Amino acid sequence: MAKCRICGKPGFVYVSEYKGYLCKEHYSRFIESKVDRCVKRFALLRGIKRLLIGLSGGKDSIALLYIMNRLYGDKIELEGLHINLGIPGYSGESQQIVDKLSSITGIKVSFINLCADYGFSIKKAADYYFKKRINRPPCSVCGTVKRYLLNKYAVEKGFDAVATGHNLDDILRFASTNIVTGDVSNLVKQVPREESTHPKIVTKIRPLCYLSNKETLNYVEANNLPIVRTTCPYKPSERKLAPMLASKIGEIEAVIPGFKSMYINNLWRKIIPSIKTEPVELNECEICGMPTSIKVCSFCKIRHILTSDQSEERFL
Ligand code: AMP
Ligand code: FES
Ligand code: ZN
Ligand code: ZN
Repeated sequence: MAKCRICGKPGFVYVSEYKGYLCKEHYSRFIESKVDRCVKRFALLRGIKRLLIGLSGGKDSIALLYIMNRLYGDKIELEGLHINLGIPGYSGESQQIVDKLSSITGIKVSFINLCADYGFSIKKAADYYFKKRINRPPCSVCGTVKRYLLNKYAVEKGFDAVATGHNLDDILRFASTNIVTGDVSNLVKQVPREESTHPKIVTKIRPLCYLSNKETLNYVEANNLPIVRTTCPYKPSERKLAPMLASKIGEIEAVIPGFKSMYINNLWRKIIPSIKTEPVELNECEICGMPTSIKVCSFCKIRHILTSDQSEERFL
């Protein structure tokens, strides 16, 4: 059996940087030091005393909370937030997993229930989409809802920033899809740290942006952490553009090791800085008072349509 390159205990996973195997403990230290280097390189925690972590119950956000607690739990105040999205067969398990992680780490986690607190669910958004009553797929509605609620909660509770578990593969998949479709202005937010631009918009950080899917999965396994095993029923099928591009990127990395790092470094150093964006003027949403470039923010529009019976309303 392969042995750990550092201590000689049974090897857990092959690590190309070490040209050999590492045991669970040394693998965990290796991943944590990768995150720590990223945090320092991009000054992700500059000026941050209270950090809110968005927890889905998936491998990335579970690893994120655990790693941030191990590395900085004694220096900054950490708290988790889970949004129960009302997705049958998925949301219940997700909430339970997040609750378990809170018990394991002792970190406080708060919960928002979309149905109970806001009167609609992502299931309802999906039903409306499949009946062609709205034109945005459930995943897209879900993204808007999560971004809005994480930010709103952080602003109201006085957090300095929100951290999410977006990893290297997530960012490259998103970037590639938007490059192919020509929506490059969407890329400007795909950075390790997105500064606050308004008193009601908190700074966003992505400390796992140098870790791959495989690395976060290995990390949660090495540390026996609970994660949601079911997949969201609204996840886009493998035949869609984004998953296909992600799988091609993985194939290239297997042939050219370091391809993903080169891609993401060029994205941050060259591609994003060359994108010209017009400054957007922010007003307060007429309904909720949160910043928006239009009269009524996307969240309030979604909420209005999904809580009133406007069957002809199709444009979110
Ligand atoms: P996703 O949009 O599902 O790829 O998730 C990206 C990140 O958003 C996750 O790593 C979490 O940090 C955060 N997130 C996703 N779903 C939730 C949720 N239900 N509640 C709180 N945060 C979430
Ligand atoms: Fe949001 Fe699947 S988790 S649609
Ligand atoms: Zn070892
Ligand atoms: Zn609003």
